[in-house]
Amino acid sequence: MNTAPEVRKGLYGVIADYTSVSKVMPETNSLTYRGYAVQDLVENCSFEEVFYLLWNGELPTQEQMDEFNKRGRSYRKLDPGLISLIHSLPTDCHPMDVMRTAVSYMGTKDKEHFTPDADHITHVGHNLLAQLPMAMAMDIRRRQGKDIVAPDSTKGVAENLLSMVFGTDEDSPASNPEDVRDFEKSLILYAEHSFNASTFTGRVITSTRSDVYSAITGAIGALKGPLHGGANEFVMHTMLEIDDPAKAEDWVNNALDNKDLIMGFGHRVYKKGDSRVPSMEKSFRALADRHGGAKWVEMYEKMAATMDARTGIKPNLDFPAGPAYYLLGFPVDFFTPLFVIARVAGWTAHIVEQYQNNSLIRPLSEYNGPEQREVVPMAQR
Ligand code: COA
Repeated sequence: MNTAPEVRKGLYGVIADYTSVSKVMPETNSLTYRGYAVQDLVENCSFEEVFYLLWNGELPTQEQMDEFNKRGRSYRKLDPGLISLIHSLPTDCHPMDVMRTAVSYMGTKDKEHFTPDADHITHVGHNLLAQLPMAMAMDIRRRQGKDIVAPDSTKGVAENLLSMVFGTDEDSPASNPEDVRDFEKSLILYAEHSFNASTFTGRVITSTRSDVYSAITGAIGALKGPLHGGANEFVMHTMLEIDDPAKAEDWVNNALDNKDLIMGFGHRVYKKGDSRVPSMEKSFRALADRHGGAKWVEMYEKMAATMDARTGIKPNLDFPAGPAYYLLGFPVDFFTPLFVIARVAGWTAHIVEQYQNNSLIRPLSEYNGPEQREVVPMAQR
């Protein structure tokens, strides 16, 4: 009888814990946050409402939303220490390294004593949601030799972020309500996705009773990888490399012949299509209509059709999100930092859940190295 233990590489198919934050249903290509279909939330809610929902389990009343926004926006203060830190970092480092460093720095500055309860985590969440868009905007603008644009506490998260990055002139996406709304929809779609690699990293760190900033710093490190959040920028690098929609089919076929991974396609859980793609694709097409992006839509369609015909592998959220962020004018290597800002919502909701019903996450491994042996002293080796 074979007694070898079953080893699940990549924890493939392993159910690691319960969660009430979101439910991914690959059989029906659907996703709910706290029981609400993500498409429904995208069409009817602001990013802040979704943030509130993920933290509190219910959608807010107007009064609760006002209170949440008042508190959240009070954290939007430029921190001279963060400004000088960001300006001291190399301008050729990856923007995700700046985001990771910014969170780590914020952890050193936060004077609130760490307590593993929902109130404290809400405080950190508000702090991150206020400071990270500023950190990202400062990083973009310093690389472009531009001055900081101060945050505006009268604006929602999406509009405030766009105005800190692009300014408030007439041609800024911050001045176009349709651009603001399509951008906001992308943040809602990126906000949460159950036990993905970065959320799980955050939960592992939380399970040791470490602090929230440490958990988020680790989660950012996991999100940076191209198999996870880093894919959205690789999608755009690929599209820029292809450049001409007429070359898209050959490009995809060549990549598949070479057994290369094509970023923006495939998913560990969804095998028949990613629930978030139709909503993001709609925003991408709308942005392309408004900003002369027909070329990217044509390329998107050709790449998706070729991939489907050859492999049956479907696009994931990063595939439409990449060109959508490009059309808004974001530099390509800042696409994953945008994902960070949105995902703070889901990460912090999971951190609360982990603390509330904690068990140290510590799996086993099956040893396959050399048998036990004796040390031969150096002189005899
Ligand atoms: N391009 C080319 N081939 C792909 C592919 C892609 N994007 N995604 C999966 N495949 C292939 C795999 O190489 C594998 O081929 P093989 O059986 O010949 O080895 C096969 O499809 C099955 O893949 P699977 O094991 O089911 O994928 P996974 O669950 O291990 O990986 C991802 C999931 C997301 C890591 C993978 O699809 C990927 O790397 N995609 C590109 C990165 C990306 O877009 N990430 C964002 C995810 S939201």
